[in-house]
Amino acid sequence: MNASQEIQPILEIKDLKKSFGDKHVLNGFNLKLFEGENLVVMGKSGSGKSVMVKCLVGLMQADSGIIRIKEQDIEILGRSELDLLRTHIGFLFQGSALYDSMTVRENLEFPLRRHKKKLQMKENTETLVREALKNVGLEHTLDLMPSELSGGMQRRVALARALILKPEIILYDEPTTGLDPITSKEIIQLMRSIQDTYNTSSLIITHDVDCARVISNRMILLVDGINYAEGTFQELSSSDDPQVKAFFKN
Ligand SMILES: Nc1ncnc2c1ncn2[C@@H]1O[C@H](COP(=O)(O)OP(=O)(O)O)[C@@H](O)[C@H]1O
Ligand SMILES: [Mg+2]
Repeated sequence: MNASQEIQPILEIKDLKKSFGDKHVLNGFNLKLFEGENLVVMGKSGSGKSVMVKCLVGLMQADSGIIRIKEQDIEILGRSELDLLRTHIGFLFQGSALYDSMTVRENLEFPLRRHKKKLQMKENTETLVREALKNVGLEHTLDLMPSELSGGMQRRVALARALILKPEIILYDEPTTGLDPITSKEIIQLMRSIQDTYNTSSLIITHDVDCARVISNRMILLVDGINYAEGTFQELSSSDDPQVKAFFKN
C-alpha cells in the first residue's frame, strides 16, 4: 500500500510531552484512533491518562507534540475553527459533571444552545433532547434535577449530553469509576449499543479490566508516560512482559 492509500486515523497523538515542574507525566505518548473502533487506554492511577485527555481537548496545554483531529492539526487552528472541530467530539468525563442547578432537560440543552446553529442541525431542541434521553432509556427524567437521580442514571444523562450533537468521536474518561458492578455493566452495554447505532469512534480511558475486555477492539497501555504496549485484549492479557501482566492480574 502506498502512502496515499493508507487509512488515516480520525484522531492522532504524536510524541506528546507534558511535565509539571520536574515531574514528567507524558514522555512522548503516541496514539491513533481509527474510524469505528473502540480504543482503550489503560494506565495505573496517576499515570497521566486524564492529562492526556485534557491536552487532547485543549483543557490543558501540552509542552510539545502533535494532536490531529480529522486530519487537522489543532495547533494551527484558530479559535472558531477549533470550536467547530470540538463539536465532533463528545466527552464523558470522570464523574458525571452534570450541572447541579439545572434540570436534566437544561443540562442537555446546554451544548445545543452553544453549537446547534453552527452545526446547522434542523431538528428542534425539544426533539433532540427527547431523542438523546430515549437513547439512554431515561425519557421520564426530563424535568428532574440531577440530585434526584441515582449515580448510574446521572452517568447515563451525561452520556446523552455527550451524544446530543451527534459526535463522530467520543472520549470516555473512566466511565465506570464510582459505579457498582451491575451499574458498570449497564453503562458498558450502553456504550456498545451507542457505537453500534452511531458508528462512533471511541477513546476509552479506564483501569477497569472488565470494561476493557468487553468494549475494546484494541488497547494501549500507558506506562512511564509512553504507549508501552499495544494490541488486542487477548494479545495483551496473555503477554509475558511483567509490566503488561501487572495490569491483568487481580
Ligand atoms: N494541574 C496539575 N498540576 C500539577 N500536577 C498535575 C496536574 N494535573 C495532573 N497532575 C499530575 O499528573 C499526574 C497524572 O495525573 P492524571 O492524568 O490525573 O492521572 P490518571 O492517569 O489517574 O488520570 C499525577 O501525578 C498528577 O498529580
Ligand atoms: Mg484520571
